Amino acid sequence: MLRLEGVSHSYEDRAVLREITLDLAQHRIGVIGANGSGKSTLARTLNGLVLPDEGRVSWGEWDTRRHAKHIRRRVGFVFSDAANQILMPTVAEDVEIGLRHLRLGRAETARRVDEILVRHGLDGHRDHPAHLLSGGQKQLLALASILVTEPDVLVCDEPTTLLDLRNTRMVHRTLTGLDQQVILFTHDLDLLADFDRVLVMEEGRVVFDGRPADAVAFYTELMDEAPQEGRVR
Ligand SMILES: Nc1ncnc2c1ncn2[C@@H]1O[C@H](COP(=O)(O)OP(=O)(O)O)[C@@H](O)[C@H]1O
Ligand SMILES: [Mg+2]
Repeated sequence: MLRLEGVSHSYEDRAVLREITLDLAQHRIGVIGANGSGKSTLARTLNGLVLPDEGRVSWGEWDTRRHAKHIRRRVGFVFSDAANQILMPTVAEDVEIGLRHLRLGRAETARRVDEILVRHGLDGHRDHPAHLLSGGQKQLLALASILVTEPDVLVCDEPTTLLDLRNTRMVHRTLTGLDQQVILFTHDLDLLADFDRVLVMEEGRVVFDGRPADAVAFYTELMDEAPQEGRVR
């Protein structure tokens, strides 16, 4: 289980995460919050892409400061812009490259690549140039390239932000069907309805932690509040 203890982080003198303590145990966890509230920074602390100035992010015995490499193999990360995650010319090669460091041998590598492409409906595109896929297919490819390495957790930072409704639903169905734990940072509140737990972030803090409907109601109210001059939180 991922655990954050007293995690704080600043960029220059701007505090972006403020003393966040969380146990992330549930199978489906959503995180919502306004732009700039610290979601992406929090997401990136979960697999060591950001090392917090203070506090600790751990996975069992490991922490992201000393064991980033181990944690990255257990905690996969999906960005909004799938195109930036595609590294190789063809779909199959892009999935395969993620497996290379596991040194599984040619037969097992090919078996895993085939299996994941079939599972995500990309087998018909095996040898197609990855950059010609639709936005939604690119995001599925990014997911497949991470899932093929069999992580325990998938952290997704606004994976549907750049997608239209059809592709959003396709990615949503895929995330919903995974055995892995999913921690989904999103503005698509509809995607969270059947989640186990939703966190609301504001100004670097978790200001709500509870059931999806309650979290969405809390967040909506927060966003409807008139901004107050000089208000200090
Ligand atoms: N690499 C960075 N350098 C400086 N400031 C950053 C950097 N990344 C994010 N920020 C700032 O930190 C704040 C929180 O950003 P972010 O974590 O991306 O929030 P969110 O994902 O909720 O929009 C924002 O004010 C943003 O401008
Ligand atoms: Mg963000």
